[in-house]
Amino acid sequence: MACLDKQSDDLVFFVNGKKVIERKADPEELLLYYLRKELRLSGTKYGCGVGGCGACTVMLSTYDPVVKKIRYLTAQFSFTPQRHHPANSCLLPICSLHGAAVTTVEGVGSIKNRINPIQERLAKCHGSQCGFCTPGMVMSIYALLRNHVKPSMEQIISALDGNLCRCTGYRPIIDSYASFAKEQTCCQLRGTGQCCLEQEELGCSSSAGVRIRSGLCNPAEFLPVDPTQEFIFPPELMRMAQEQQGKTLIFCSKRTTWISPSSLKELLELKAKHPKAPLVVGNTSLGLNKNDCDAYHPIVLHPLRIPEMQVVSITDDGIVIGATCCLAQLRDILIETIPKLPEEKTKIYQALLQQLRTLAGEQIRSMASLGGHVVSRGSAWDLNPILCAGKSVLNLASDGGKRQIFLDDQFLAGHKHADIEPKEVIVSVLIPYSTKDEFISAFRQAERQKNAFSIVNSGLRVLFSPGTDTIVDLSILYGGIGSTTFSARKSCEKLIGRQWNDQMLSEACKLVLEEISLPPSASGGKVEYRRTLLVSFLFRFYLEVLHGLHQMYPFRYSELSQDKMSALGVLQSGVPQGVQLYQDVDPGQSPQDPVGRPIMHQSGIKHATGEAVFIDDIRPVDGELSLAVVTSMKAHAKIKSIDISEALQVPGVINVVTAKDVPGKNGNDEEEAFAKDKVICVGQIICAVVAETLTQAKRGAKKVKIVYEDLQPVLTIKDAIEHNSYITEERKLEKGDIEKGFKSADKIIEGELHMGGQEHFYLETNSVLVIPRMEDKEMDVYVSTQHATDVQKLVASALNLQSNKIMCHTKRVGGAFGGKITKPSFFAVIAAVAANKTGRPVRFALERNMDMLITGGRHPFFGKYKVGFMKDGRIIAADFQCYINGGCTKDESELVIEYIVLKVDNAYNIPNLRVRGHACKTNLPSNTAFRGFGFPQAGLFVETCIVAVATKTGLPHEKVREKNMYRGVNRTAFKEEFDAENLWKCWKECLDKSDYHSRNAKVEEFNRKNYWKKKGIAIIPMKFSVGFNATYFHQAGALVHIYLDGSVLVTHGGIELGQGIHTKMLQIASRELKIPLSYIHFCETSSTTVPNGKYTAGSVGTEINARAVQDACQILWKRLDPIRRKNPKGKWEDWISEAHKKSISLSATGYFKLCDKHGLGNKERPCIPIFSLWSCLF
Ligand SMILES: Cc1cc2nc3c(=O)[nH]c(=O)nc-3n(C[C@H](O)[C@H](O)[C@H](O)COP(=O)(O)OP(=O)(O)OC[C@H]3O[C@@H](n4cnc5c(N)ncnc54)[C@H](O)[C@@H]3O)c2cc1C
Ligand code: FES
Ligand code: FES
Repeated sequence: MACLDKQSDDLVFFVNGKKVIERKADPEELLLYYLRKELRLSGTKYGCGVGGCGACTVMLSTYDPVVKKIRYLTAQFSFTPQRHHPANSCLLPICSLHGAAVTTVEGVGSIKNRINPIQERLAKCHGSQCGFCTPGMVMSIYALLRNHVKPSMEQIISALDGNLCRCTGYRPIIDSYASFAKEQTCCQLRGTGQCCLEQEELGCSSSAGVRIRSGLCNPAEFLPVDPTQEFIFPPELMRMAQEQQGKTLIFCSKRTTWISPSSLKELLELKAKHPKAPLVVGNTSLGLNKNDCDAYHPIVLHPLRIPEMQVVSITDDGIVIGATCCLAQLRDILIETIPKLPEEKTKIYQALLQQLRTLAGEQIRSMASLGGHVVSRGSAWDLNPILCAGKSVLNLASDGGKRQIFLDDQFLAGHKHADIEPKEVIVSVLIPYSTKDEFISAFRQAERQKNAFSIVNSGLRVLFSPGTDTIVDLSILYGGIGSTTFSARKSCEKLIGRQWNDQMLSEACKLVLEEISLPPSASGGKVEYRRTLLVSFLFRFYLEVLHGLHQMYPFRYSELSQDKMSALGVLQSGVPQGVQLYQDVDPGQSPQDPVGRPIMHQSGIKHATGEAVFIDDIRPVDGELSLAVVTSMKAHAKIKSIDISEALQVPGVINVVTAKDVPGKNGNDEEEAFAKDKVICVGQIICAVVAETLTQAKRGAKKVKIVYEDLQPVLTIKDAIEHNSYITEERKLEKGDIEKGFKSADKIIEGELHMGGQEHFYLETNSVLVIPRMEDKEMDVYVSTQHATDVQKLVASALNLQSNKIMCHTKRVGGAFGGKITKPSFFAVIAAVAANKTGRPVRFALERNMDMLITGGRHPFFGKYKVGFMKDGRIIAADFQCYINGGCTKDESELVIEYIVLKVDNAYNIPNLRVRGHACKTNLPSNTAFRGFGFPQAGLFVETCIVAVATKTGLPHEKVREKNMYRGVNRTAFKEEFDAENLWKCWKECLDKSDYHSRNAKVEEFNRKNYWKKKGIAIIPMKFSVGFNATYFHQAGALVHIYLDGSVLVTHGGIELGQGIHTKMLQIASRELKIPLSYIHFCETSSTTVPNGKYTAGSVGTEINARAVQDACQILWKRLDPIRRKNPKGKWEDWISEAHKKSISLSATGYFKLCDKHGLGNKERPCIPIFSLWSCLF
């Protein structure tokens, strides 16, 4: 719909202190895409697009002309207002920004201008690996520090609630920011009295005589914090807000009109005229549908400038909160109000506060409104059950007047008589005080404590007859078990009049389970678990109320016994603590030699400033097209027809590319790039639509019509076994005499283990940019991959070209974890075929939902075991059957099952062992390499057996482990010889350093004393071999150039995935050429400089490439020998200049290969062994 009867207003906001005027603002445009595509600010990243990862975090500053303060405060509250807040730009419509100031990571600091201490400390404290999440981390802390110059550690941790990192682990990130905290807590070594940042030496490890250090950087070198350097709120925006107070703002595009009324009256008139128009406040609920490009709203109302909807007041009945107040604001109000009120009045507020502390992340809490939360009524929304149990009241208004309704279960169920009318809006919510005889509790259980939707949540309230435990009123509400919050109303009615005792509890549990139907097929799964949670919450409430009754009437009601007290209260995770120790370099090592020292990631600062360029950050090139794929909706089916005619009619669509357009080979021997006649999994790519913009390509993709003929799918491991559907032959390994072993065992146990799969969730989704060159059909392929050689090979073969025409480039990859070994080649083929067909550059950056749909992950596992053991815990025979769900193609499944078979013994020497492995072929997206490459499945499987043996024998788990661990010099089942000395060294050191035995004793004592809550502790040895089965995979190349000014360019075949491989290569080059790191640069991994690189994986990428770099540098150093000898006191630059004059080549290739499978090398080319790494999981 075009603009109603008015012209569109100019949208005015500031980004990083610069004014932005958008004359044709599109209400559907979201800030993230606007920043990246229009303003070319690519530091703000796309990670998920739905508010879940924090990679897109920016800071928003707003100004409220009514109270003449930066917004975020209320007329009646005196607390210091927060003036700036973090927000997920992926959900923020640009039209909501009129009058706001946006700060992105580029505005915080840059290498070009000045880096901010927040960026510097994160980089120097090693808080980034791949760096894709890093700008988001910086922005969350920046927003916090703009509001609290000296925050507490709890505030720092809470500020990062909404930011995910898949590489680094959160400890270094939190440590980086500990230096900003008001309480100067030591970041890593709390308890020891030493601070890691002080770089104290911790003395010598007595056993090896090596010096152990902590401390990764020198805090004395940190830039000081200087708030005066930050942007001020633009005075122009303050003036504008004053001037436009009474003005209605309208922004419109072809499809949508955005109206921001300035008064409640106007809003109500608009709502009467457009009853279907949504009120967009945080857009955190409505915005989740944005992937459906057909779903849009012709009119959108934005009520954020309406004072009545921002009101916060304390009345005689309770606290009234304006509907547009955000959840962070609600939290802050409650934090301020609760201590000021009598405790008995605050029970509902305390329950709300408890949920608000873990609900979503700070960005969502700062955007999501109370009104939006109430109206959108998501099944897992956490506040609605308590608001309902606490008898909250909605203050509604429409052009017909005002009214109040209860936020009750009828409202939450959406019953028409209890719902708000289409033309009504919620102006505010009255949250009443609790009373003396009332108890209210809230519970939520999610997959992790913060930033995860509840699996089940609950709001429970009971009102007793004064001075008694007779129930007068009872509310039991659950979220997460249906399409919206569910009330166990009938159960509650039956319990009125009952005493609060054990009989009532049993009855209540029975009634609730009867009333709430959760059939085995209930959507969301986890049915048994959810049913357990229903009664668990009820039980926790029961105990809390008993405890409360005793507190109120100690002589009438007895206290819970001591062993039950630990069931009360909230689990507090506190400030995480960790220690990072490393072996110091030899005291004799030259101070200039960086090898072995904790050098900051070569791109660390660029990660933190957002200047590190990932594939989708590359600026659009001339004529570039965007690509969207059409994927299979069927798990197994014949393709009867593909109709692209409608797609071609969509404005902006240039072409549709199918298997027919592939000039060469459509994929490889195992897998098609475009499905041709048949689809073998949901998510398989069938064709691709290329268009001028991504939105147009997506619209086009929706118009492609595919007719299928269904075939029988095989989905699970069980199905595959039944259908004898396997990817490869059985893999089998035998050692000793298994039957004899079982015969001599004291006992035999059998069991099974089922293990689900896992998503890689690399923060950077798969991305590729293909640019055809003008000559000879050459193509540049910029791709986020672990295996550039495979990309080159597959693209060349698809285009029927020689590999020498395809130039692959990878500067860095935003996380991979095995997920970017095989699939990126296919994505590159899709884009390259499209580029070949259209003759234009093509960008294919997958959205998260598509990436997750198309790609596989970790293999689901099923294992059967039969274990024979002696009374003392020794396992003397084991028969293992292992199955993985490989999905629809071979991919890496053959190797993964081989690794499982080889690694399933873990650290245990089982004398009689038989392992059989099967990779099942099913109609799921192909599962692939994933961190650990089969070991996590194998390890869990064998540890399950150890636990089963320990349980049967009654021995402590660690004793059974010790009994079975390899000792002395041994041979594995696959006949590799190795010495278990290090395994035992590592084991004993872990037992000792962790103080395992005394902590275990404390755990046991706690568990003895506590009936409900239990603690646990475990120590598990681990043998993990790195590298590949095929020896030729352990080869690597490098190319080192020395330029005439003495600067050095290092290239090698390894790919930067966040592990810091380039940093390490520069360290090696620095050592070998004896020049400072500042002389050496790494540009990119490219097939044009170092050909035929193997994939960077298997934990050996650094080791093999380092040897190649070392080789190249040593060659160069040798060449410089005569020059150096002639002028030993000369400078590096002099030698280089002289060498050039003497026609000595200043460029060398280096090469490394593993000589044989036992790692035996020769003097010229020493080889690395295939390592066995030992460690203990604790
Ligand atoms: C990543 C993520 C994580 C989340 N995690 C949690 C969580 O852990 N726990 C939890 O409880 N919730 C969670 N949420 C949900 C969040 O609480 C809700 O999305 C939010 O409260 C909705 O508010 P909003 O202002 O963004 O609504 P919007 O999306 O702006 O609007 C939602 C709906 O409400 C209507 N509406 C808004 N205001 C009014 C009004 N005043 N009168 C009438 N109608 C109105 C709109 O018309 C629209 O239909 C999460 C959301 C996201 C995106
Ligand atoms: S939260 Fe916005 S991209 Fe993930
Ligand atoms: S460094 Fe955080 S996701 Fe890679």
